[in-house]
Formats: sequence, structure tokens, C-alpha cells
Amino acid sequence: MISKHPKDSSVETRNIVMPEHANHYGTVFGGVIMSWIDIAAAMAAERHCGHEAVMVSIDTISFRLPINIGDHVVLKASVNFVGTTSMEIGVQVTKENPITGESGVSTTAYLTFVGLGKDKKPVKIPDLIPETEDERRRFKNAEIRVAARKKLLKQIKLKS
Ligand SMILES: CC(C)(COP(=O)(O)OP(=O)(O)OC[C@H]1O[C@@H](n2cnc3c(N)ncnc32)[C@H](O)[C@@H]1OP(=O)(O)O)[C@@H](O)C(=O)NCCC(=O)NCCS
Repeated sequence: MISKHPKDSSVETRNIVMPEHANHYGTVFGGVIMSWIDIAAAMAAERHCGHEAVMVSIDTISFRLPINIGDHVVLKASVNFVGTTSMEIGVQVTKENPITGESGVSTTAYLTFVGLGKDKKPVKIPDLIPETEDERRRFKNAEIRVAARKKLLKQIKLKS
């Protein structure tokens, strides 16, 4: 099976916040951003594994800055870490005011996707080879999160 680099599957998308994306405070609904995050992450996951990819979990989603109507929203998604059938995708959301040029990281999230074979069962996916310093840092941090998730799931199963 071939290995891939994060850049082989990374995805960048851009949306503009329209009035229908906003709440009654004039800032974007968290659920809209979550939906855009899901789509960007799913595309990165499919590109990495070359199979159908479904989300099995999302965690550590942090909303740091409000996003206003008219702002541009840039989503960058890339594969941080790969297990046997699962992969962690990191998504960074940046808001940009196209008039003033002001920008900032608004939201970050980590999602786990599983590659599915034609039988809809988890399938072995390509390994990930991080190349840059940033990619190696993301890989190491994701490895810690993956181990922590597995430990937590095991503890919960033992108690239930
Ligand atoms: C994805 C699915 C097929 C996995 O089935 P499963 O029986 O849980 O599979 P496994 O227990 O073999 O786990 C598969 C991988 O997912 C990981 N995983 C399972 N549950 C997880 C969770 N809650 N968080 C993080 N990783 C998880 C496992 O560690 C394993 O990873 P690895 O192979 O890299 O070691 C099944 O859970 C499913 O169909 N879920 C619904 C998906 C969906 O509809 N998503 C929303 C729309 S995209």
C-alpha cells in the first residue's frame, strides 16, 4: 500500500458569511461553521484514503473569535495522523474581513474519519509521512490525542 504526505490530501475552501448563516446577534451560527468544517475534513479524508470516509468523532472544537456577516471564512483541512483504518483531520478556520484585510483564527477542530471498503466495513488506509516541521509537530500531537481517545473509550466501556 502506498504512503501519502499531508499535502497530497490537504484541502482549502472559502465561504462568505451571508445573512442566513447568522444568528440574531449578527454573528455566524456555530452549527454552520461545524458543517463547513465537516465538509472540508471529509474531503481531506477521502483524498487521503481513496475510499468512502465517514466521521466517527469530533472533539476539541474551539470557537475563539466571532465571525460577522460579510466576512470570508477560509477552512484549511489536513490529515494529522493515521491509524489502521482511522485518520485524524485537523481543521483551522480563519475569518477575513475583505474590506479591511483584518484576519484571525476563529475556530479549530479535530475530527476522526474511518475509511470504508465496498462492504461498508473499516478498511486499511495509506500511511502518512509528515514532511515539514509543522506536519511532524501535528503528527506527534495527534498521536497523543489518539492514544488519549482510545484510553477514554476503553475506560467508559469498562464502566458501562
Ligand atoms: C465508522 C464505523 C463503520 C466504525 O465501526 P467500528 O465498529 O466502530 O469500527 P472499529 O471499532 O473497528 O474502529 C475503527 C477505527 O475507528 C476508531 N474509532 C472508533 N470509534 C472512535 C471514536 N469514538 N473516536 C475516535 N476513533 C474511533 C478505532 O480506534 C479504529 O481506528 P484504527 O483502525 O485506526 O485503530 C461505524 O462506527 C459507523 O458506521 N459509524 C457511523 C458513521 C457516520 O454515519 N458518520 C456520520 C456521517 S459521515
